[in-house]
Amino acid sequence: MTGELSPIDKAKFVAAKKAAEYVEDGMRVGLGTGSTAAWLVRCLGEMVRDEGLRIQGVPTSTRTAQLAQEVGIKVVSLDEARWLDVTIDGADEFDRDLNLIKGGGGALLQEKIVATASDQMVVIADVGKEVETLGAFPLPVEVIPFGWQTTQALIEETLVSLDVLGRKSTLRMNNDSPFVTDEGNHILDLHLNRIGDARQMALVLNQMPGVVENGLFIDICDAVVVGFGDGRVEVRDINAGTIEESMLDFAESDNLFADLVD
Ligand code: A5P
Repeated sequence: MTGELSPIDKAKFVAAKKAAEYVEDGMRVGLGTGSTAAWLVRCLGEMVRDEGLRIQGVPTSTRTAQLAQEVGIKVVSLDEARWLDVTIDGADEFDRDLNLIKGGGGALLQEKIVATASDQMVVIADVGKEVETLGAFPLPVEVIPFGWQTTQALIEETLVSLDVLGRKSTLRMNNDSPFVTDEGNHILDLHLNRIGDARQMALVLNQMPGVVENGLFIDICDAVVVGFGDGRVEVRDINAGTIEESMLDFAESDNLFADLVD
């Protein structure tokens, strides 16, 4: 079955599989959202079924909650879990300081709350997500529906004084209607091309009325597990300052592919 995966999917899978090693029996685990995080959820489901792993999973979206339940992970709310041992999630971009852009899947608000409530946040990503400077990926900003066009105008005006290469923003759509997040909000995607000072950008955006949260994750991620299409994985730990490389054996995980519907 693995032969049918594209190199990017293989890279996502090996990153997820390796990151599953962070999860130990009895842990409370934040479960990210997106295609890479979905691999992680499937890997953990396999560990629950085959190895008797006992964990409580806190999903970061309704999509992830549904998948986690399907694969047999015990799902609890963040309020039930209160504090988590580790959150493992994907990213749209990461830089060398492990600062991130997230929210391509629209779940940035729950993702940031859950990651911040965790002892550790581990990002899983294919190597294509690595950037020198954040900003080529449009920055998602969650805004409340009330007066969203006024909020958009305020954001664009404020961008004039910030170190960016573009100032256009677009309302994210879902076919013909505005995209609606799990929290009932909208998303503005900021086409900045390059964010010179991501920390300042994150602070400025979150001070604006109407903005609920932005997709910049600054100083939240502790380690990134980078997957490559040939099965290699690199674990970069920002606190330990280490980079460990290994190769993953696909054969061990063949079961995981048997009932894939994605
Ligand atoms: C979801 O809102 C996002 O933050 C995802 O984590 C991010 O978009 C990565 O998604 P993929 O793993 O599908 O690339």
